[in-house]
Amino acid sequence: MQVERIFSFEDECKGEKIQVRIPEIVDPQYGMFTWPAAPVLAQFIWHNREQVKGKQVIEIGAGTALPGLVASLCGANVTLTDKEEFPECLENCRRSCCANGQDSVKVVGITWGQFSPNLLKLTKADIILGSDCFYDTKDFDDILATVSFLMDKNHQAMFWTTYQERSSSRSIEDLLKKWGLKGVQIPLEDFNADHGNVGDSNISDLHTIQMLEITSQCQPQRS
Ligand SMILES: C[S@@+](CC[C@H](N)C(=O)[O-])C[C@H]1O[C@@H](n2cnc3c(N)ncnc32)[C@H](O)[C@@H]1O
Repeated sequence: MQVERIFSFEDECKGEKIQVRIPEIVDPQYGMFTWPAAPVLAQFIWHNREQVKGKQVIEIGAGTALPGLVASLCGANVTLTDKEEFPECLENCRRSCCANGQDSVKVVGITWGQFSPNLLKLTKADIILGSDCFYDTKDFDDILATVSFLMDKNHQAMFWTTYQERSSSRSIEDLLKKWGLKGVQIPLEDFNADHGNVGDSNISDLHTIQMLEITSQCQPQRS
């Protein structure tokens, strides 16, 4: 069954607002509906939209692609990626772009940890996005291998990622070190996401969602 969800992000002080239409398919595949971490990452992008404007943005494990679409609507040049072996998910990504008039957004199959021709062809990214990619520990090393490969092309790049904490024993700290990366947690209140109605969607388990900025160890940390 196909449904459409509408998310909106607003800055009342500046009188600015965007709406994003997301087609979802009620399906057992993880990438066909929007996970609670996605509106939180989208809100972070909206909050930092001046920084995002004109930048090269790549979203990994994009699924329905809410964060990537918000970046595109804020003026970034966006490439959405999801697992190469999931064509239905990549097709749904394309549907999300069309639903929002963002036909210039590229959609590419990239599987974490695989150094495929598609990955090698990607342009240099300034910002990498990933919402709820850290859900299965077997993938953590592959995700950071892909992120580290993208950051090798631009040591100033940032990986903005939200994840849902499903167990306190699933730390990525050691893997960050292995790949020459470092992470800093950004409190939700810093970007107005500390309430249960982020992006106009009800997030009941907001307290389990974390926002991280991951950068190369060569780069100075966000203050
Ligand atoms: C939990 S969903 C999150 C989807 C979306 N980012 C969101 O937050 O709504 C995980 C996403 O990662 C993608 N994925 C899973 N394994 C992958 C892999 N090995 N390589 C690339 N993407 C993968 C899935 O297709 C899915 O879109």
